[in-house]
Formats: sequence, C-alpha cells, structure tokens
Amino acid sequence: MAPSATVATTALAADLVRQGRDVIPMSAGEPDFDTPDHIKQAGIRAIQDGQTKYTAPASGLIELKEAIARKLDRENGLHYDPSQIVITCGAKQVIFAAIVALVDPGDEVLLPAPLYVSYADQVKLMGGVPVIIPTEPDAFCLSPDQFRSALTPRSKLIIFNSPSNPTGGIYSRAQFQALAELIAEAGLFTITDEIYEHFIYGDEEHVSLAALHPGVADRCLTVNGFSKTFAMTGWRVGYGAGPEEWMSHIAKVQSQETTNTCTLSQHAAIAALEGPQDSVGTMRAAFKLRRNAIADGLNELDRVTCPRPKGAFYVFPNVSGLFGNTIADDVEFCRYLLEAAGVAAVPGTGFSAPGYVRFSYTLPDDRLSDAIDRIQTAVTAIQGS
Ligand SMILES: Cc1ncc(COP(=O)(O)O)c(C=O)c1O
Repeated sequence: MAPSATVATTALAADLVRQGRDVIPMSAGEPDFDTPDHIKQAGIRAIQDGQTKYTAPASGLIELKEAIARKLDRENGLHYDPSQIVITCGAKQVIFAAIVALVDPGDEVLLPAPLYVSYADQVKLMGGVPVIIPTEPDAFCLSPDQFRSALTPRSKLIIFNSPSNPTGGIYSRAQFQALAELIAEAGLFTITDEIYEHFIYGDEEHVSLAALHPGVADRCLTVNGFSKTFAMTGWRVGYGAGPEEWMSHIAKVQSQETTNTCTLSQHAAIAALEGPQDSVGTMRAAFKLRRNAIADGLNELDRVTCPRPKGAFYVFPNVSGLFGNTIADDVEFCRYLLEAAGVAAVPGTGFSAPGYVRFSYTLPDDRLSDAIDRIQTAVTAIQGS
C-alpha cells in the first residue's frame, strides 16, 4: 500500500513553508473558507455542556443519524432508518471500514479511473485486487461497455465518485441508470462517494445511484461527509448509509478501530445539517469563478489542455505535451513546479492518470491569480528549453 499522494504532497509543501519558502498549496482537497460560525458555536457549546465523552453507540449520536436520514431523504431521494447509518472519522474512514468488512483476498474491485487516491490502496491493504478502468477524457465516466469488459466472476465491488476528485466529472441520470441495470444484474456491491455533491457549476444534477434501482440499493453504500460541503475537514465527520447487514459489519469494524468520531464534532455536524445553508452557495459561487480563472489560465498555455471541470474543486489538466528532455513525466513536472514556482500540485499518477496534474483551486482570489502567473511562467520556461 502506498501513502496518500495528496497527503504526502501537502506535507512536503508544509515542510517547505516551515523552512521559510513561499509555497502556494494547491495540493490539499479542502476549502479555504472557514467553518461557518453557527457550526463552530455548536462545537463550543458541546464542550461547555460537557459533551466530551464517548458517544453510545460508537457508530454515532442518534440525533445526528436522524438529521442525516432527513438529509438523505430530502436531498437524495434515499430512505434510510437511522440504524442504517454509521458516522465515522471522515468519509475516508467509512470507505475503509466498508472495504475491510467486505473485501476478501483475491476479490476484484472495479475502479473507474482517474480515481480518488485512497480507493485502490485501501483495497490492496485487504488483499483485494483493484481493477483500474481508464475512462475517456471527454467526460471521465465509465461506459456500460467498459463495465462489461471489466466484469469477471471475481468482481465483488465497484466504487463511483460523482462529482469526481480529481476530474470533476459527473454521471448523468441516464448514464447511472444504464450502469445500475448492469450492476444489479451482476449482483455487485457498490460504494458511491458523493462528497462533492454540492459543488456542481452548471446545469448538471447530482444523482444518487442507490435511488435509481432497488437491486443496487440492496448492496450499495452511499458515502458523504461534512469536510467539503461545510468546510469542516479538520472536524473529521463523515458517514455512510446502506443495507442493514453491511452497515452492522462497518459499525463493528469502526468500534474496533476508532470507537466513535469526535463527540463535539458530531454536535457541530447536527448544526451544519439543520442550520442555515447559505455558506454552501457562497462557496460554490466563489469556486465557480476560480475554476473559470484557472482553467482559462492553463488553456492559454501551448501543449496543456484543461477542459473546465463540471464539479468538485480541482482542475485536472493534461500536461503530457510538455514531456521531453527537461521533464519526463507528471511526477517530475510537479517536483519542478514546486521547486521553480513554489506551487504544490499532485501528479496524476497518484490518481491512476499519468500525464495529468491536479490543482486544487480553493485559494483566495489574489493567491490564485499569483499561482496562475507562477504556473504560466514556469511552464513557458520549459516550453522554451
Ligand atoms: C472523493 C473523496 N472521498 C473522500 C474524501 C475524504 O474526505 P473526509 O475528509 O470526509 O475523510 C475525499 C477527500 O479529499 C475525497 O476527495
């Protein structure tokens, strides 16, 4: 199992900053916005009220599970009893617990690529076999034919992430409907990671796969969390909802792994779901402008292609046109960018997409325009070499 490419790059950039270098961090997947005040106040109140013990059950506060069940019903057309929800230390942990609970050595897990860094390594840790399925750069979505060709008698699970980190790709209702029929027919388990559902910049709708087909819902874990939507990365709250049996195993794994996620964070998460939602729209509007600015800035560069991503908060340009004598691949490109321009980005190789680079554009506007200038200068320098 490899370390997380995004976490490793972010740590390297933080080291350089500690050494006094001016580094613009475009590697971490977290909003630069502060956690909204009413959520912070709920966390502070929880401390003051003495909500500083373990939660019982370890799978999460019942009040938060109920708030999540209402959210899934209201926003996603998913109807779960609170007993079918497990609250974890971020979405990353529920995905991990789900894989621990489900995947046996030799089981194949279908992973449309480019993909979120953790899926393949978590599968490998359990002795599973990640089956990476490259998708076409026009939309970065798995087609029914690609699904059929990847399927074998050992296939057990498929993981979707829409909107996608790193590509921003979004599955339409029709695309998911076609895949849902095939998944149900094949009897596969599914994880749908919907953590970027509120970061969609055009007319596309967010579709929850489990709402489309009962044969999928029976074996589907819907994953979401508070890190991105409510700028709460450090609070560590995520959750999964799914069929009773899988959820009971996930809860068991979690109880042996971390007990519960931070109690006061769970109280803050209730305020996030039940309180005012305007901060989400404010972030989305800011991110849309930034997405346009950086995609346009990158497209001005010869031999770099960067379609405007539809969602999430990353751009994912193809920089392979720049490879030659000076820079051999995306890993060297990111190293060069960090050293020459003081910009931290993540190589596409970490997302099973060599030749690409992921820039997170969750930066204040002036920092982002500084970053675009630096990237343009550094790229122009190698183009001339
Ligand atoms: C697709 C995806 N899933 C899950 C996570 C993990 O989020 P959390 O902070 O809730 O663990 C991330 C974080 O970058 C992500 O991009």
